[in-house]
Amino acid sequence: MATVRTGIPELEAMAQAALPRLPLPDLAYTPEVSAETAHLYERVARVIPPVEWPSFAPYIKAINDLKQVRNAVVLAHNYMTPEVFHCVADVVGDSLQLAREASEADADVIVQCGVHFMAETSKLLNPDKTVLIPDMRAGCSLADSITGADVRALREAYPSVPVVTYVNTSADVKAESDICCTSSNAVRVVESLGVKRVIMIPDEYLAKWVQTQTDIEIITWKGHCEVHERFTADEMRAYREADPGVKIIAHPECPPDVIDEADFTGSTSGMIKWVKDNQPSKVLLVTECSMSDNVAVEVPNTEFVRPCNLCPHMKRITLPKILDSLIFMKDEVTIDPAVAGPARAAVERMINLNH
Ligand code: 13P
Ligand code: SF4
Repeated sequence: MATVRTGIPELEAMAQAALPRLPLPDLAYTPEVSAETAHLYERVARVIPPVEWPSFAPYIKAINDLKQVRNAVVLAHNYMTPEVFHCVADVVGDSLQLAREASEADADVIVQCGVHFMAETSKLLNPDKTVLIPDMRAGCSLADSITGADVRALREAYPSVPVVTYVNTSADVKAESDICCTSSNAVRVVESLGVKRVIMIPDEYLAKWVQTQTDIEIITWKGHCEVHERFTADEMRAYREADPGVKIIAHPECPPDVIDEADFTGSTSGMIKWVKDNQPSKVLLVTECSMSDNVAVEVPNTEFVRPCNLCPHMKRITLPKILDSLIFMKDEVTIDPAVAGPARAAVERMINLNH
């Protein structure tokens, strides 16, 4: 079903309502659904108990069928729950991988299973495609910590110092920036600018971690991730005392003293790669809960210690909402054209740097 765009919201809503709707799928767990999804259950059997599968399988089948009808691609962040990550996603990854894949997406519709700033990035890179997010309320404490006006004030305070902006921000903030970065390329982005000093927003802890990797002076902002800031160094030491063999792998959004206790620090995909490459007997991923489940599926010989911190925004994305997105083509992500141009330029500068 096409999306109607007239530029007049009332007319668009009327025209959209007049379009034919797809029939609602039957969501019973029938023998046919069981057989068609059996190969997917095999993949996630280590992390989804058999008793839960009948509540997931009908949605998984309906979503995978509808993706064909809509010519849609599902992009899922590493923090999605396993039934989304392993059973309906076409592309999975960290923020950088999802941004890259979004720029190459060959589909009419992108369903972003992640938070709002990720869907905005996909829209910036695919202005002519329909980008849907299954729950518009899936935000991010980092994105909420800074506005475009804050960036303009920083520029006034530090004239001619370039602004490097974490992708965990709104399009408004990206539009005020020189270049974007993610946790997997932040050091490279900072060093690419050929300057002695940069402003790096909004994650104070990511900026402090980057500062440990480079001689370039970094001016930070006071934004924090509400999930990673809750981990403490005491907690890490207690885990190590309880089991001296455990490997501690941390995301750079963690506080600096937590990172000091870690054996490795990297983006979500960097953490996954480290576990796959090293196959430790026991590992603690100091990040959002679902990632341990998703990696456990692929690394059967590693035991995961789970200090569980959930991202309430990521957890808003569920199978029933993904199905609703595809049936009703909602919620569509749009960006003010005046903001989209400069915001896109900042994201593209980052993507081009990595090609
Ligand atoms: P990554 O880019 O490492 O996937 O991080 C995104 C994020 O939101 C972490 O909290
Ligand atoms: Fe934002 Fe933290 Fe959730 Fe990532 S985990 S989306 S940084 S609140």
